[in-house]
Amino acid sequence: MPPPGPSAAPGRYPAGALAFPHRGLLGIGELQRHEILFLLDEAEQWVALNRRPAKHADLLAGLTIINAFFENSTRTLLSFEIAGKRLGADVVNMHAAQSSVKKGETLIDTAVTLNAMRADAIVIRHGSSGAVRLIADKVACPVINAGDGQHEHPTQALLDALALRHALRARGREELSGLVVTICGDIRHSRVARSNILCLQALGAVVRVCAPPALMPDAIAAMGAQPFHDFDTALRGAEVVMMLRLQSERMEGQFVPSEREFRHLFGLTPERLARATPDALVMHPGPMNRGVEIDSIVADLPDRSLITTQVEMGVAIRMACLDVLTRRVRGVPGWGADGAHGDAGGRWV
Ligand code: MLT
Repeated sequence: MPPPGPSAAPGRYPAGALAFPHRGLLGIGELQRHEILFLLDEAEQWVALNRRPAKHADLLAGLTIINAFFENSTRTLLSFEIAGKRLGADVVNMHAAQSSVKKGETLIDTAVTLNAMRADAIVIRHGSSGAVRLIADKVACPVINAGDGQHEHPTQALLDALALRHALRARGREELSGLVVTICGDIRHSRVARSNILCLQALGAVVRVCAPPALMPDAIAAMGAQPFHDFDTALRGAEVVMMLRLQSERMEGQFVPSEREFRHLFGLTPERLARATPDALVMHPGPMNRGVEIDSIVADLPDRSLITTQVEMGVAIRMACLDVLTRRVRGVPGWGADGAHGDAGGRWV
């Protein structure tokens, strides 16, 4: 486990590098490899705590965390709520349906209001790409992006990396370097795909993406992922298969002829999975549409499906993010206003 201080340990981390010099967590695109590794390493202590009967740590006692969700969510909201509560914080959930946003309040006014309540961290989910940054620029406390439009979902990518690392280590493989991962489904509308491409590549994995042409973003090659339109080809040699649902709520118009057709060409059936490496791991961020992008028998495969592990790792990763990002306000040595994790003017990366 790396030291919590400002300088990352040599070897695993670049000498002299700051462990995590960011004020918030808005996207994987802003992180360097060693910062990703730092969060994964920090999460390990929370994986261990969460497996104990008594799952409480009081690190964040007295702090207020607001989960501001402008878009529906079950697992991510619950996961952040559990993470904050296990760390002893006062956690408040703000649902868009009950908020003044429905009454016409602008996002900036909402941000100013949240800021005035003196939250110590704000977790935001929003349907528009870039909305989380807009709020982050208006508030004084750290902001965590819990999914913004089609842009990024950084904690999902981190929890996926942590789930993979655990599964690989159980098989005697230390890291993700060289791992061949095929992500299949609605790549165009998926913030999970985007964050995962960035995260997995930063950790040295080879990322393939597979989708019908209409669901493949134009800029995919620029992200360094290998694009495929034929699932069988994309599965050859894949050690991990990550399935994504059709994100119908973000589609304007008809992108696939029918769910039946989509399943026929891009659904993960046992026969399809057999085209990947013999013990290939199966992942899905949820919510799953069983019988569409993934068959139940595959989703529930013991030892190969990581879907419930992903949910478990989600709580630990979110605990790590909340802990690390509130170290400054808690005055943790090396993380305070002494400039160790911000410049002399108190600005942060
Ligand atoms: C998301 O918020 O993007 C989810 O975790 C994945 C999905 O909705 O398909």
